[in-house]
Amino acid sequence: MNVAVKALKGEEISLSFGGIKVLQGLDVEFRAGEITGLIGPNGAGKTSLFNCLTGAYSPQSGSITYAGDVLDGLSPAARATKGIVRSFQHVALSPDLTVLENVMVGVARNFHAGWVHAFLPTLRARNEQAAMRASAMDALQELGLAKVADKFPTELPPGMQRLVEIARAIVGKPDVLLLDEPAAGLNNSETRDLMRSLKNLAATDLVMVVVEHDMDLVMSICDRIYVLNFGEIVACGSPQQVRNNDDVVRIYLGSDDD
Ligand SMILES: Nc1ncnc2c1ncn2[C@@H]1O[C@H](COP(=O)(O)OP(=O)(O)O)[C@@H](O)[C@H]1O
Ligand SMILES: [Mg+2]
Repeated sequence: MNVAVKALKGEEISLSFGGIKVLQGLDVEFRAGEITGLIGPNGAGKTSLFNCLTGAYSPQSGSITYAGDVLDGLSPAARATKGIVRSFQHVALSPDLTVLENVMVGVARNFHAGWVHAFLPTLRARNEQAAMRASAMDALQELGLAKVADKFPTELPPGMQRLVEIARAIVGKPDVLLLDEPAAGLNNSETRDLMRSLKNLAATDLVMVVVEHDMDLVMSICDRIYVLNFGEIVACGSPQQVRNNDDVVRIYLGSDDD
């Protein structure tokens, strides 16, 4: 096994619901230092694969490892502690917390007292709260959101709520970042800002996987792309290779989804 490059790997992943095969023996490798795209028509199984990688779903067969470490059977919380975090296709922010507090929830794994303590009036909690606040502000700054730190998510347009979710995902300095349709609901200029932010986030020790319908975004930021159709990988390669792949062209031209 090549241990020089850390990777999140799925081997022979199969998932079905009531006899419906959602993932059919997938082999995937998402490498640190790369942004990998995961594309395919609606219902192809992209979100389900993310759910398997994060532990929200348990595949019937197959194995998932990160840097050689077997993750099978670990809960989403346990995987998050190992640095594997995601954003959701549908925005999932707490409406009762401010933008800043929502992002502070994401940084909690790096602190001993945990995020609950960040809201309690002890000295340790005060110190940790200050540090968490600073990290959360940094993440907001990185995505151009510092000015809305004290607003509540429902006061923001959908595109901005999505960026807040991404800030929450990156604030804990994850090893693996899984983004499910991060540009959904973003307008053109927000999408351009997001692309820039994601490119800036890319780092040699970070595995970043982006599920996205916006082809311009995928083609311009991804180093490698997997194409999923009916739960199977039909193509994998550079944006150029995938763009010219006959099966991919057929899937996209023959689909109403895009
Ligand atoms: N919890 C579930 N129960 C039943 N079917 C599911 C569940 N999650 C996903 N599926 C099915 O799996 C297929 C793939 O869905 P999904 O992974 O959301 O696709 P994508 O994200 O590529 O659009 C769909 O047919 C969907 O209905
Ligand atoms: Mg999906």
